[in-house]
Amino acid sequence: MATENTFAFRGTYYHTPTYGRLDVLRDVVLVVQEGKIARIANGHEEAEVQVEFGLPEIRQLEAGQYFVPGFIDTHVHAPQYQFTGTGTDVPLMEWLRKYTFPAECSFQDLEAARHRYSLLVKRFLANGTTTAMYYGSLHLQPNLVLVDSIERLGQRAVVGKVNMDRHSPDDYIENTADGLRDAEEFVTYTLGKKCSRIQPCITPRFIPTCTPELMKGLAEIAQKYGCHIQSHISECCGEVNCVREMHPEYASDAAVFEEMGLLTKRTVMAHGTLLSDDDIRHLARRGTAVSHCPLSNFFLGDAFFKVNHAVSLGLKVGLGTDVAGGISPSMLSAQRMAVVNSRCIRAHKLAVSGGTTVTPEMEKDVITFKEALWLATVGGAQALDLADVVGTFEVGKDFDALLVDTNLSGTSGPFDVFEGEDDDQRFEKFINLGDDRNLIEVYVQGVCVKRGDEFLLDGSNGCVKAAEDSDRLMSAPTPVEPEAAYVDLAHRADSSDEAASLDVGTADEEGAPAPESEPPTKRSRF
Ligand code: GUN
Ligand code: FE
Repeated sequence: MATENTFAFRGTYYHTPTYGRLDVLRDVVLVVQEGKIARIANGHEEAEVQVEFGLPEIRQLEAGQYFVPGFIDTHVHAPQYQFTGTGTDVPLMEWLRKYTFPAECSFQDLEAARHRYSLLVKRFLANGTTTAMYYGSLHLQPNLVLVDSIERLGQRAVVGKVNMDRHSPDDYIENTADGLRDAEEFVTYTLGKKCSRIQPCITPRFIPTCTPELMKGLAEIAQKYGCHIQSHISECCGEVNCVREMHPEYASDAAVFEEMGLLTKRTVMAHGTLLSDDDIRHLARRGTAVSHCPLSNFFLGDAFFKVNHAVSLGLKVGLGTDVAGGISPSMLSAQRMAVVNSRCIRAHKLAVSGGTTVTPEMEKDVITFKEALWLATVGGAQALDLADVVGTFEVGKDFDALLVDTNLSGTSGPFDVFEGEDDDQRFEKFINLGDDRNLIEVYVQGVCVKRGDEFLLDGSNGCVKAAEDSDRLMSAPTPVEPEAAYVDLAHRADSSDEAASLDVGTADEEGAPAPESEPPTKRSRF
């Protein structure tokens, strides 16, 4: 049945339902109805689909144009956007005091906050980030401005007011009771929007700036409203040493968060470069995810996060820009950095071996653009407990998608296409060389929020769906089964994997790296 909100595109769609494999739906008709994917049919069924949905027309994509799922950035500091690309000269703890806290504090100027947050959300949408997990700042009011900006411009987001009640500057700290009250007020304000795109998040900044009393109180609020939780875990030596000194009674950051009740299936912990295998297994059991932030780990971290290893232990992993610890707001950049990061691990192992032979063991950590795209879409969706909603093109999911145009040649685009290059090569070029110029349309929940240079919802209230959707946001998180593996490694891509259905092809012939040989054990320090 046709409604005003039904439309369809015929063309080629790329996505990564399986870790390590790029699937292509070639020449299919994808129908969107009320924001959701209602049908995916073969191209030759166009006439039938047109009748079934009462569509006056079906738009045919041009050659060289493809849809890809919208990117999901699982770690962004909204008030740090203004100094992205600067302030890279000092380690984390100094960086926070020198650049970060003063920048965040300045958002008390609400007019400035409105202007800057509008620029932020536009920049992220332009770069294809249809969903972002945002940290706001300490003070309540600017966070409400952030939520309003996201709502107005049509992005999907999980957003938190930052809490910190110790070891913070005199003008950028709250007392515990005020912090808890403001956190709850932020949650109720955001839920009060009844906007299914925007969910509130409990946000203890990190252990050094949060008392146990604050962390426990925040965990109770998260439990009460069933909301997400985000924080930083085992990020770098400075942070880890600080926590060990403050809390010698706990063996690790994970042990502290566990005791505070902050590890849930809706928790996303950033970085995790210094997590032990036991820590990773424990987070996996809780259903807690890690946001892998390769770019900021290069600047602020002290170790490489080993994605394949973490995934093989059953951990949910998404990808994050970590603006402004990461110097780019682009999730394409984050994907490339994830690949480079994985190759650094191999190079490091080779250097430590002292030899010139690359062994299979050294190859285990290497990922390709296919795993990186999975992290930026499906991995992010799993991390944010949105795996049923976004991340791939499947009937029943919301249509959050980017229309990629690879036809921009010469100086009007970031790369050139040469005679004889096929769709798969063009798409790979986009992932490795493309930028916002290639993203000619951006869709969230079936709504085109950006076309060309124009933000189509700017000035209107972007929230198209309301009350019935808000019910699902209020549901409390369900406990996760022990040893739950979110990526079934048995189903990771290998060269024998067949395309799953009529309209799915595999764009590659290569295999993914072999899963860990050791299965996860039940050993834990907790
Ligand atoms: N740890 C505590 N706060 C921050 C922050 O703002 N950025 C990063 N990268 N790490 C943190
Ligand atoms: Fe961060």
